[in-house]
Amino acid sequence: MTIDSATATGTDVSTIDLDEFIAGIPKCELHVHLEGTLEPDLKLELAARNGIVLKEKTVAEVEATYGFDSLASFLAVYYPAMHVLVTADDFRDLAFAYLTKAASDGVRHVEMFFDPQAHTGRGVPFATVISGYRRAIVDAHAQLGISAELIMCFLRDLSAEFAMATLMESLPYRDWIIGVGLDSDERDNPPNKFAAVFARARREGYQLTCHCDIDQVGSIENIRQALEDIGVDRIDHGTNIVESPQLVQDAKRRGIGFTCCPVSNSFVTSDMKATEIVTLLRDDVKVTVNSDDPAYFGAYIAGNFAALAGRASLGPEDVARLARNAFEIAWLTPRARAAYLEELDTYLARYGL
Ligand code: HPA
Ligand code: ZN
Repeated sequence: MTIDSATATGTDVSTIDLDEFIAGIPKCELHVHLEGTLEPDLKLELAARNGIVLKEKTVAEVEATYGFDSLASFLAVYYPAMHVLVTADDFRDLAFAYLTKAASDGVRHVEMFFDPQAHTGRGVPFATVISGYRRAIVDAHAQLGISAELIMCFLRDLSAEFAMATLMESLPYRDWIIGVGLDSDERDNPPNKFAAVFARARREGYQLTCHCDIDQVGSIENIRQALEDIGVDRIDHGTNIVESPQLVQDAKRRGIGFTCCPVSNSFVTSDMKATEIVTLLRDDVKVTVNSDDPAYFGAYIAGNFAALAGRASLGPEDVARLARNAFEIAWLTPRARAAYLEELDTYLARYGL
């Protein structure tokens, strides 16, 4: 069924072309690492621009280095690749390229992670990173009509002192950053290592989120710490929570959102975790679908929706629920949230949903 032939009443959802429905549905992306949107062709271009000699000379050669099967082996490819990002223009071009793709994928609002320590740690000033990213957001809003915010992530395998210093460095740019998160290698780096950093970030008015990666040693304890000790507003990944009915109840009661990334899951654990995501969805937990590091995992947000829908035999109502959850848990103003939800409802009404 096409949009034109849909009627507002009595629609048989089984006739809806799901790929077309997924492509067009207004989306909100809440889990994407800007540095994970570095496509091989842009990597080569930035290296040439900055006089950096890479071993790889072609897109195929860059892609040939993408051999990962765990979070740690992914990160071992991800961090060195970022060294081609040097000037504010580089950061601007990276984020603008992502926002252009996202807009063409139907994304209306996005909250994007960035890893300042991966740049300041190699001598690129914080101001360079954030001014480039900010320029992309302003340009994309003006040219593409997409809204975007930045979430500053701390690298959990580095010290809490470095994270605190980075938090302090961010304060002059407080208005350009909506929240803070925690990423990188989770093993032996639980949320509570950063308790003081999160507490200070909260006092400064930042929203809080935290990666609880899939199938980690101590996943459940780390989810518990994030929810109970840190008091996060949402959790990135975190589907291991299905193992604890009590934590699921707690997350539901507090309306905590989960930013799931099915295709990424299938790379770092060889399982999309579709069963866990759908179990939580059916239990009215606010799970969402996102792309994580799309340049590395080969799927942007629409591809993630399609992959999950295919694996779990989801229908249009499930896809609509996942899209709605994201607008509901996004850190939007009430007015912006209402406007995006109205846009979503208008789209769904065209399908009789
Ligand atoms: N988990 C942890 N660190 C990361 C990720 C992730 O999914 N993506 C980029 N850095
Ligand atoms: Zn992530």
